[in-house]
Amino acid sequence: MMMKNIYGILGDPVAHSLSPVMHNAAFEKLGMDAVYLAFRVSKAELGDAIKGAKSLGIAGLNVTIPLKEKALAFVDAEEVAKKIGAINTIDFSRGTPVGYNTDGIGSMQVLKETVGELKGKKVLIIGAGGAAKAIAFYLDLEGAEVTLANRTKERAAQLAAKLSNAAAIGLGAEFKKQIKASDILINATSVGMHPHEDATLVNADMMHPDLVVFDIVYNPVETKLLKEAKRAGVKKIVDGEDARLSGRGIVQDMDKRGAADSGNGKGSYGCVGS
Ligand code: ATR
Repeated sequence: MMMKNIYGILGDPVAHSLSPVMHNAAFEKLGMDAVYLAFRVSKAELGDAIKGAKSLGIAGLNVTIPLKEKALAFVDAEEVAKKIGAINTIDFSRGTPVGYNTDGIGSMQVLKETVGELKGKKVLIIGAGGAAKAIAFYLDLEGAEVTLANRTKERAAQLAAKLSNAAAIGLGAEFKKQIKASDILINATSVGMHPHEDATLVNADMMHPDLVVFDIVYNPVETKLLKEAKRAGVKKIVDGEDARLSGRGIVQDMDKRGAADSGNGKGSYGCVGS
């Protein structure tokens, strides 16, 4: 009998994660004999959990909050993950566990589809948390001119210092000026997320019609920010659902890289970001 391939997600807490439902549905659709489980693992036990997963023959794992940074120490990480300082995916199909950070990839794909070349584009990212970080690193690699605007300016400055071409500002007068001068505006904060649907850090009168506006929030799909963008006559709008769906392309991406060969003769499968 062929062994079932086991995938999973490590997090703490992890019970709310949609990853098992999403991946198990994908396995069924692809006709794969595989299962995806959620494992609650504390930071203190993360190293043992990753070593144990390897010994047990688990095919691949996603890693989520609050373990993404710490997990880096237990894998061979790809360059961009090292720069970001966090991973969300571990592939066990090679000798040593290999770590990837796919968090910013969906956003990057959908932005490229909408904007085309990102090199030289003035991009204003609101936020300096995990989501902002992943997007900022990928945009920096693409050669965009990144400005990070964050409520806590110091946090934006710390992130900007790790990038090759980025500036940091707060959310005051400078922020308003910078939006007018930007090509792309990205909300990478949780502002506007359910149950605070009426919240936005940018109103219509602060935008211009040629701005591309992208909100990573996908609950609701049309956030207050995106409604304001429409009111401002913005033509190119990207919502969080676009980015999430695009992110699922990582399955094929990892497949091409041979990064997650399941070895069951039915082709390979890469874990989608958490
Ligand atoms: P994540 O990893 O999902 O990005 P996070 O690390 O908690 O989450 O970061 C949340 C981001 O949203 C931060 O940039 C935060 O700003 P601070 O660094 O000043 O905390 C931002 N944020 C959350 N609520 C906000 C609000 N009401 N107004 C402005 N920024 C907010």
